[in-house]
Amino acid sequence: MSDTTHSDEDELETVLEIENLSKSYTNSDGSVEEVLEDIDLTIQQGDFVCLLGQSGCGKSTLLKCVAGLTSPDTGTIKVDRDSIGYVFQEDRLLDWLTVEENIRLVLESKGVPESERQERIERYLDLVGLSDTAEMYPMQLSGGMKQRVSIVRALAIEPDILLLDEPFSALDEITARNLRERFLEMIWELNQTVLFVTHNASEAAFLSTDIVILDSTAPSYLSKEMTNPLDYPRDIDSEAILDLQKEIVSYI
Ligand SMILES: Nc1ncnc2c1ncn2[C@@H]1O[C@H](COP(=O)(O)OP(=O)(O)OP(=O)(O)O)[C@@H](O)[C@H]1O
Ligand SMILES: [Mg+2]
Repeated sequence: MSDTTHSDEDELETVLEIENLSKSYTNSDGSVEEVLEDIDLTIQQGDFVCLLGQSGCGKSTLLKCVAGLTSPDTGTIKVDRDSIGYVFQEDRLLDWLTVEENIRLVLESKGVPESERQERIERYLDLVGLSDTAEMYPMQLSGGMKQRVSIVRALAIEPDILLLDEPFSALDEITARNLRERFLEMIWELNQTVLFVTHNASEAAFLSTDIVILDSTAPSYLSKEMTNPLDYPRDIDSEAILDLQKEIVSYI
């Protein structure tokens, strides 16, 4: 996508390349539902791409294709899947493990050295304001708390690429604002690349370097790609964000 956030000396590295992707699902009655058609998307290291579109247009499906959780019908996806961290739209926490055990399990499976695991668990729980919940079980948490634990699970592996599916949607606005700012600082520090699904156009205007819109026809195609013209740091209450939010909504 755009190179506006990179200095001229930086060599732009493509970390995700989707070409000509189409995806359909076959329903139990044998009927075929075409969801995505002819999707081309290139994302470079350090990009923060927000993906928007009406409910049911295929945003989660596209993320699942990128993560290799489902296969496209046609097209290619070039990405290093070992370097992906995924925050699912639903929390997917294991009910019989504590918060800390849920995170530790993912760190183990991703090969994070044992000596680093405790520090990572504490650091990322603190980042989302949930240090007190380490010993609690998912059923003891609110929806927004579970959502934050699933964010921690993906962040704590410190992946090069983060796929996030509406990660802040269950949070109150104050918590979401706080988390967005901390999240940006973290991804800049780790030089991560982000593909972020949201229904919140103001959030997209505040966070993104680039915005892509899936249209609502079936199958959906990428109807709009735009570079975010605003410099960081941004004020989510500014006129500029409000204007950009309105522009984004007009494309959905
Ligand atoms: N496993 C599946 N089997 C059959 N159809 C599916 C499956 N997963 C998704 N779909 C269908 O594909 C379409 C796109 O679903 P998807 O979850 O990707 O939408 P979305 O854009 O993420 O929506 P939302 O904003 O509501 O999360 C929907 O019509 C949905 O019913
Ligand atoms: Mg979805």
